[in-house]
Amino acid sequence: MISFRKWSVAILGLTLLYACGNSKRKVVLEPFPLMEPSEFVKMVIPSANPLTEKGVALGKQLFFDPILSRDSSISCASCHQPKYAFSDPKAFSVGALGLQTNRSAPSLVNIGYHYQGLFWDGRASTLEDQVLQSLADVRELASEWPVVIQRLQQHPAYSNSFKMVFQLSTEDEIQPDHVARAIAQYERSLVRADAKYDRYLRGIEPLNELEMRGLKIFFDEDENLPDSECGHCHTDPLFTSLEYFNNGLETTDSLQLLVDKGRGGATGKYYDIGKFKTPTLRNIALTAPYMHDGRFETLEEVIEHYNAGGHYTENASPNVRPLHLSDLDKRALLAFLHCLTDQKYEHYDLE
Ligand code: HEC
Ligand code: HEC
Repeated sequence: MISFRKWSVAILGLTLLYACGNSKRKVVLEPFPLMEPSEFVKMVIPSANPLTEKGVALGKQLFFDPILSRDSSISCASCHQPKYAFSDPKAFSVGALGLQTNRSAPSLVNIGYHYQGLFWDGRASTLEDQVLQSLADVRELASEWPVVIQRLQQHPAYSNSFKMVFQLSTEDEIQPDHVARAIAQYERSLVRADAKYDRYLRGIEPLNELEMRGLKIFFDEDENLPDSECGHCHTDPLFTSLEYFNNGLETTDSLQLLVDKGRGGATGKYYDIGKFKTPTLRNIALTAPYMHDGRFETLEEVIEHYNAGGHYTENASPNVRPLHLSDLDKRALLAFLHCLTDQKYEHYDLE
């Protein structure tokens, strides 16, 4: 018995010695516990970039750190501010070089589920790809990779974190791809579904009469109330179908005349001009101003736009048509939109 114990201790000691002496050993990284609501279909995470605790933490640090921008002046969070559900209250954001973006910064809540293209025109196919574009964009971080890599390499804490998260050896350099992967991990962790609407679905909190009326109008659920068609494009549970539509913001004789070509600029197809990715309506009360160019200041203006049936264009969706909503219906729709605000939004400040 005693000798067996001694042997086990000796073997354990030897194993530990071996493990410590072996510089090429792999550190096992804890997976990140992604809390997904049961209403969501499980997030598809690329096998080349699994979410780990340390990876998400590194991505978060980078997201909030101006070290990535040309002159260390702004970070991703300057335009994607947590307290506005990771959007910008300005219609057009100001980048590191003082240039304005040509579109409004969208919310990043639940962005990990956007598989049909990122940006208003869908020009990036993955979050990793999108990070690389935002970093290089002269209207955003305007960075040059060699400079960014040198800064991170010389930063002892970052240099160690990258080695740990991506299992780099002492000779390996940090690559742009590592930065992209870490930030993408953090972005995928931004899963939220704790709005009043979610609690209503889970039977925790009822909607009041006005909000219920708004829900029925939103999802075309009651034959005694007008249909608004909203739910065809802003589908449950993400409140976006992720598809590209022209929701009738402009009247034009030829789509070619539209200044912002939207999806058409990315695909080169004529009938994609003027289409934009349907944005989520989750946290919509926090993400004003509205539309890709921030043309509407308030949700009341947005509801008026849809109620009037939008403006005619060749490819405007037939689901954007005069709705004939009464004042009560409009107030109901507005009340319902306010039920989509995550209750924890005030804690985004801490993220
Ligand atoms: C100067 C402001 C600014 C900065 C800095 C910035 N963004 Fe953005 N972001 C925008 C704007 C504007 C858009 C929309 C651009 C478009 O669609 O053409 C956007 C779009 C996005 C999207 C696409 C959202 C969607 O619904 O498809 C993601 C994701 C994103 N940004 C993440 C980031 C990350 C990560 C960083 C830091 C590496 C970053 N952004 C830095 C302004 C900014
Ligand atoms: C045919 C699909 C479609 C229908 C129907 C539709 N939307 Fe939209 N919605 C979109 C698209 C696409 C955009 C983005 C357009 C743009 O910016 O060019 C948008 C934008 C919005 C925005 C601005 C979001 C933001 O982050 O800026 C709000 C709010 C909105 N819609 C609410 C509604 C409401 C309420 C209804 C019903 C009355 C509705 N939508 C019906 C497709 C649709």
